[in-house]
Amino acid sequence: MAIYYDHNAGTITLTTRNTSYQMKADEIATLLHTYYGEKTDLSDMSYAVHMMNRGLSGNPYEKGQTDRAYSLDQLPQEMSCFGTGDYRASALKITNEDGTWAVRLKYAGHKVTKGKYSLPGLPASYCENESAETLTVTMKDEESGVTIDLLYGVFPDLDIITRAARIENNGPGAKYVNKAGSMNLDFVTGDFDLITFYGKWARERIPERTPVNHGKVSVGSVRGASSPHYNPSAILCGRNTTEDAGEAYGFAYVYSGDFLFEAEKDQINQTRVICSIHPDDFSWKLEPGEAFCTPEILMTYSNAGFSRISNNFHDFIRKHIVRGKWRDVRRPILINNWEGTYFNFNGDKLVAIAEDAAKLGIELFVMDDGWFGKRDDDNSGLGDWFPNEAKLGCTLKELGDRINGTGLKFGIWFEPETVSEDSDLYRAHPDWAMTIPGRKPDRSRNELILNMAREDVQDYIFDRMADVLRSAPISYVKWDYNRSICDKYIATLPADRQGEITHRFILGTYRVLEKLLTEFPDLLIEGCSSGGGRFDAGMLYYTPQIWCSDDTDPIERLYIQHGTSFIYPVNTMGAHVSASPNHQTRRTTSLATRAVTAMSGTFGYELDLNKLDDTEKEEVKREVRVFKELYETLEQGDYYRLTTPDSDTCTVWEQVSKDKKKAVVNAVYHYVRANHAPVYVRLKGLNDDMQYRARLVEGHGEQYLSRFFKHENTLFEEGRTFSGRTLATRGIFIPAPLSEYQAWQIVLEEI
Ligand code: DGJ
Repeated sequence: MAIYYDHNAGTITLTTRNTSYQMKADEIATLLHTYYGEKTDLSDMSYAVHMMNRGLSGNPYEKGQTDRAYSLDQLPQEMSCFGTGDYRASALKITNEDGTWAVRLKYAGHKVTKGKYSLPGLPASYCENESAETLTVTMKDEESGVTIDLLYGVFPDLDIITRAARIENNGPGAKYVNKAGSMNLDFVTGDFDLITFYGKWARERIPERTPVNHGKVSVGSVRGASSPHYNPSAILCGRNTTEDAGEAYGFAYVYSGDFLFEAEKDQINQTRVICSIHPDDFSWKLEPGEAFCTPEILMTYSNAGFSRISNNFHDFIRKHIVRGKWRDVRRPILINNWEGTYFNFNGDKLVAIAEDAAKLGIELFVMDDGWFGKRDDDNSGLGDWFPNEAKLGCTLKELGDRINGTGLKFGIWFEPETVSEDSDLYRAHPDWAMTIPGRKPDRSRNELILNMAREDVQDYIFDRMADVLRSAPISYVKWDYNRSICDKYIATLPADRQGEITHRFILGTYRVLEKLLTEFPDLLIEGCSSGGGRFDAGMLYYTPQIWCSDDTDPIERLYIQHGTSFIYPVNTMGAHVSASPNHQTRRTTSLATRAVTAMSGTFGYELDLNKLDDTEKEEVKREVRVFKELYETLEQGDYYRLTTPDSDTCTVWEQVSKDKKKAVVNAVYHYVRANHAPVYVRLKGLNDDMQYRARLVEGHGEQYLSRFFKHENTLFEEGRTFSGRTLATRGIFIPAPLSEYQAWQIVLEEI
């Protein structure tokens, strides 16, 4: 049992293996949040809620004229409301039919059920058995008739608690939900920093730590997608929290549209964290009897720094967000032709690359942009999802068969949610593009947005994609999305529902994805949005991997994948070895360095293999072999950031298999220097009592090491073993770089 109700105290306590979370309805039915943190007993924690008569913080009427200490403006709550006496950031803002904004929720009951709730039309974590439990707390505002079910999913073994809310209008007239929060989390004590993940195209998810001082810290997106600019995830932590020590709370929004994370420190130094659909771009009309479901948010707590936050999320996302066949099996090592050929290809050229790929152990060939309609550059053709047989020199089925004939599976690129003005689809249905009548739209990459909020558009996209998938042996789809939404308008909705567009848009996208997976359950879909522009737990519910960034430079990727790793597991991060010099940075790096970085991702290639010489092809063969050998540890193991790319000369990270019998230490130097000072790290996650033997993965120039290093009495000495405890306390030296951007992989195996 993970959810306890204490009748006498009125507390509801949620417990996981290492954490406790508590709420309590007080004497006037305000649902107080009384605790979230390290596991404790079931004591009523409300004694620590501090109430004092404060000027300018009002008192609810039912408290009479004597109790001036009770104020919603200072109480920690499970769901704060705008307009009824709490002046801090609020999780819920509703406009009533008379134009007033007042809603005040009161506890009206709760129930506990076995298993995990689901959310209609929205991605949400799931549990295949009854080890998860759901708490539903019903809250009501008698005056307006608004009823809310607060949903909590408790995954005891994984230290994850999820939240969502279902808002129902049981009042007489229409209402507008102007702010729909999934989470309101109040801390009565603590000085915190907020870590968020900012970025841009080709530089996504860079961690930034900001003190939460008086006032608000917030990040969000109004681009219609979660965006590369701010990721819909955050970590709230103590001022001194590090990778391994200190308190931290992790949040990951299971949503791919507009979002807002806010952290506010109030007048008495309490901190409130809210996650909602971005209210600037949202208003949802509820007719009497209608309901609205917020997206889900995942929460986790660690008293041992960020590593634990990351590993909690990694384990959870791998098994309770990602679904279907590709959750549990190794996904194919792919070769994508985008950086190899761009638009300049035909069927023969692709088959020639696939033939080489097959000889090197690669398993899937992905034909990227340019195979359909009139599409030889990015100015035309989007929406015309009919193979360009003249360009391919054959039908799609014939091409798929030829690729399969080389031994590779066949995959294909789509950008379903956009349309080119120069396309048959746009000419036939100009009204399907999102534009505001009388206003010229904002073009982006010469694309317009298709109005995915419309069901007829969703059905068209599904039918076209399904037809293509039925017509050829296609086992993988790259689902791309290359712009932000602008010019929001839907002719089929009245003026007072135009604020629903971006949410309806993303629901439309989810609907098409769900339909595709229903008809093609074994299809592997890789998400993409100009790289990692829509990298979130919502998309991961449909697309088990997401192209992490259009920046394939391995040194740039150290930063991007490092930031991504705080929340998302390695096996969700699309990462490829591309050509050198790199197309985004012109930087030259070795194949080995590129491979070490890409192996801490889904691992694939994105270059013209026909241009590699024999030595390079042998090198690729070696990398593919190494990846297959280390797969379980690299992709399914626990993940540790041993240094940070920003402040160190060498980025070092480590994965440890779940049974702790194997670990891989990966290191990439940022520069080379004569007479390099040693780089030293302490290993993490090993079993103190196991004995490990270390070896360098071959192929990185290790044959030259003996020239510079003594070998006796070192980590790599023949036959030498070390306990996990020694490696964690005394640590190890990373061999010095032999050339610029030198990479090393050290494997430790229990003997
Ligand atoms: C953007 C993606 O991120 C690239 O990988 C590639 O698929 C292009 N779009 C194709 O237009």
